[in-house]
Amino acid sequence: MKHLISISDANIPHLISSAHCIENTFINYKFNKILTNLFYEPSTRTSSSFASAMYKLGGKVISINDVNYSSVAKGENLEDTIRTMGTFCDAIVLRSRTAGEAARAAFVSEVPVINAGDGNGEHPTQTLADLYTIHKEFGRLDNLTVTFVGDIENGRTVHSLDKALPDCEKNFIDTFDKSIWPASDVYYLTRVQKERGSEGSYRMRKEHIQHIPENAIVMHPFPRNEEIPTWFDNDPRARYFQQMRNGLIMRMAVLADIFSNEK
Ligand code: NCD
Repeated sequence: MKHLISISDANIPHLISSAHCIENTFINYKFNKILTNLFYEPSTRTSSSFASAMYKLGGKVISINDVNYSSVAKGENLEDTIRTMGTFCDAIVLRSRTAGEAARAAFVSEVPVINAGDGNGEHPTQTLADLYTIHKEFGRLDNLTVTFVGDIENGRTVHSLDKALPDCEKNFIDTFDKSIWPASDVYYLTRVQKERGSEGSYRMRKEHIQHIPENAIVMHPFPRNEEIPTWFDNDPRARYFQQMRNGLIMRMAVLADIFSNEK
């Protein structure tokens, strides 16, 4: 059984080529499978794109998007909830509040567990969407300069993307650093994770933007707060809305991979 807990579990070249194939050819998938979306933290993009991906693959979704309306509110532990849902479905997408909980879930699960963000740990499917976005732009995932701006310590999307790009030059600029950002191919901005105790705020300003090269791209996993002003959305370097679309395709690739390889 294949779990996806860390980005290190993913076969990145295989998933990128599968995503290209899904995006550019018509394949009529008919997976007669059921996915559970089990979310202990809020989500718009991750939960909805997993649901959409599953429907596009011909499957069905059980959505527990607010565990406060499940037996979790009666004190049920993670392991019992995972074992229970595993008897009703073929894979579980889990968003949890604490790093390490996705691995704990996988340990007891009868069905594949996909980590949809575990506290300040990792967020592998967001990273796959990010990698697909970068690969589409530059045709490679090495020899690029990537500047991470924002919540470096508590941003799980930063942790997974950093791990996935061992052959890139990386800069890390945290919220309190007001310096001008270095010239890069990719700028990866993140929200300050206030719910995890992070503090501060920052905003991409005109003086930052004028130093961003013309052929660079600006990414953000979203939701955004004040980091990127909305007037930048029409700038040709903005890629965050394409990133969401790529997230849907990539999640189709991940689910198709899991269900095709099931024993
Ligand atoms: C991110 C997350 O949940 O880690 N959102 C997402 O899944 N696209 C980023 C965030 O919440 O700041």
